[in-house]
Amino acid sequence: MKIFGNKKITIRNLIKSDIKQAKKFQDFINSLAKEDAKILINEKTSLKDEIIFLDNILKTTKRRNKVFLLAESDGNVVGTVSVELDKFRRNHIGKFGIAIRVGYRGMGLGKYLMTEIITLAKKELKPKPKIIQLEVYVSNKPAINLYKKMEFKIVAKIPKQVQYKGKLIDDFIMILYIRK
Ligand SMILES: CC(C)(COP(=O)(O)OP(=O)(O)OC[C@H]1O[C@@H](n2cnc3c(N)ncnc32)[C@H](O)[C@@H]1OP(=O)(O)O)[C@@H](O)C(=O)NCCC(=O)NCCS
Repeated sequence: MKIFGNKKITIRNLIKSDIKQAKKFQDFINSLAKEDAKILINEKTSLKDEIIFLDNILKTTKRRNKVFLLAESDGNVVGTVSVELDKFRRNHIGKFGIAIRVGYRGMGLGKYLMTEIITLAKKELKPKPKIIQLEVYVSNKPAINLYKKMEFKIVAKIPKQVQYKGKLIDDFIMILYIRK
């Protein structure tokens, strides 16, 4: 257990019994969709789809293709972070994703989860990634600041990648090179 701001937060791996609590995870992702967060998902996820999603995480982590951590507080999921290896000729690339619930941002949780997941990715993933890569809306200032702080570099800007509030928004591709 760790303290961020005035919140007590537990950070842990996903376990099999979490499937029985899929509703907690569904609430988390749906809170982000409802808020119109700058992530890919913009529609409500059904409980059935959430169970499939969680089951898939358990399988891919077991195969060491993915590392995943969740943050919990007061019985709620308040954050998730992951790195998943790309496939075949791209399996040296770990694709990164993070989201923190409203009310738990700006307290250092995002930075902490990023540090933890990158350490875990280097230790657990097979093969060990050479690059951690992510896509971020060019307008997502908090996320870009966090990634720069973690030494990610902007390597490309791709036009018109996401539909957001009636507009097509560009993405930055950001990369962290993993030293041996
Ligand atoms: C982006 C996100 C993960 C950041 O997590 P967080 O826990 O709020 O970030 P932290 O408190 O650890 O802050 C780390 C750094 O990020 C930057 N940052 C965080 N919030 C910021 C804000 N509102 N404005 C500007 N920079 C900000 C700062 O550089 C900060 O470092 P500092 O505190 O030393 O100034 C979080 O805001 C989030 O989940 N947003 C919604 C979903 C999302 O956008 N996910 C990323 C998709 S690519």
